[in-house]
Amino acid sequence: MALLKSSTLDIPETQAIPRHIAVIMDGNGRWAKARFLPRIAGHRRGAKAVRTLLENAAKLGVEYVTLFAFSSENWRRPAEEVSLLMQLFVSSLENEVSHLHDAQIRLKVIGDLAPLGVKLQTLIQDAEALTQNNNRLTLTIAANYGGRWDILQATNAWLIAHPERVSEGIAEADLTPYLAMAYAPEPDLFIRSGGEQRISNFLLWQLAYAELYFTDTLWPDFDADALNLAVLSYQQRERRFGRTSEQLATTQSAARTS
Ligand code: IPE
Ligand code: IPE
Ligand code: MG
Repeated sequence: MALLKSSTLDIPETQAIPRHIAVIMDGNGRWAKARFLPRIAGHRRGAKAVRTLLENAAKLGVEYVTLFAFSSENWRRPAEEVSLLMQLFVSSLENEVSHLHDAQIRLKVIGDLAPLGVKLQTLIQDAEALTQNNNRLTLTIAANYGGRWDILQATNAWLIAHPERVSEGIAEADLTPYLAMAYAPEPDLFIRSGGEQRISNFLLWQLAYAELYFTDTLWPDFDADALNLAVLSYQQRERRFGRTSEQLATTQSAARTS
């Protein structure tokens, strides 16, 4: 299976169930505020919603789930919230990795990990090593991740690896192997909970042809029904990748008769 297929260089095959779902899990703070709870209580409930999502996505046959856990801009939050979020990340790794492994889930973490500290980096490395051969579903956690960071780190890695080719310039196919999620196909479906309709510097490159789905549901309330609604919406989209509807109809009828 070619994973590095690019939606702008090739036309990807599409199927009824998205292979890859990328999620901005937003609305934890508002969920907590509505209950007069501290924001961290919302983040804790948000972590529970991740378990539910993974179970339901695996049941549907989704192969890749990518979750935005902490953006490169989230350092701008109050120090106490940042520190509690990091603690939650540590405790989630400590408590959940064995369950992920039992569920045959492979864990990957993408982002600029050095600022997260040695303890988190060690937990991440151990979790990735333990689960590396699991093949039911790949869960990617984006931590201290930014779409612009990703494009720049890939560019810099290419420049370091190919100093002799700098004068030629970089082609798209050169860059994609260096992107943080080069092991995964591009997301088919992007979901953002919490009502905002923006990308917030998530997977800028990889979302080029993703179907975008926004819901007012706050992340801690995102349950099996919410996922089913998102997938249903995805199934009603026509993924043209630059072509016309008529071209799509011809391709589909040719595929049916061959
Ligand atoms: C998303 O929920 C989780 C993180 C960014 C870590 P928020 O904390 O952004 O929740 P709201 O947007 O304040 O409701
Ligand atoms: C995006 O949510 C980041 C994560 C969910 C980790 P934010 O709540 O931080 O996004 P903005 O600031 O409202 O765009
Ligand atoms: Mg938010």
